Amino acid sequence: MSSFVVDKDGIKRYAVTVNVNGSDYTKVIKANTLLVNLLRDDLDLTGTKRGCELGDCGCCTVMLDGNPVNACLVLAIDCDGREITTIEGIQDGEDLDIVQEKFIEHAGFQCGFCTPGMIVSSRALLNENPSPTEYEVREAIAGNLCRCTGYVNIVAAVLDAAENL
Ligand code: FES
Ligand code: FES
Repeated sequence: MSSFVVDKDGIKRYAVTVNVNGSDYTKVIKANTLLVNLLRDDLDLTGTKRGCELGDCGCCTVMLDGNPVNACLVLAIDCDGREITTIEGIQDGEDLDIVQEKFIEHAGFQCGFCTPGMIVSSRALLNENPSPTEYEVREAIAGNLCRCTGYVNIVAAVLDAAENL
């Protein structure tokens, strides 16, 4: 368990250290702070979106130790000492990741609200399986809802990214 202090209101606050996109950050948080809020509110990484906050929409998807998770369902305190990759960390230095490039090329987004989570889920898939079938792509993004695109262009973008890894 992380060390804690008791604030002036009598609430316990815990020190956690997380590695986000390759850098370590130590923050003092409440026990019920969600990972999505730690990223957005404490680290200013607002690429990770806050949508349903129920685990239904997937727009808050990040990688936790390489695996895609809904950041609205993960307690930040449980991420102490762990590695997180957000959409801001997908990029390859100054260059876009191939998945990002292919989303642009195939018009895999419209309003863009689902896109960070969609790209993180897709990247996590390609890290594990560089040659997915269309079914595997659809399965990997099944937890990411898009209200705009109809998914066809998204799936095409991920398959094209796989071919160009
Ligand atoms: S905001 Fe996390 S799944 Fe919708
Ligand atoms: S691009 Fe608008 S929700 Fe997916």
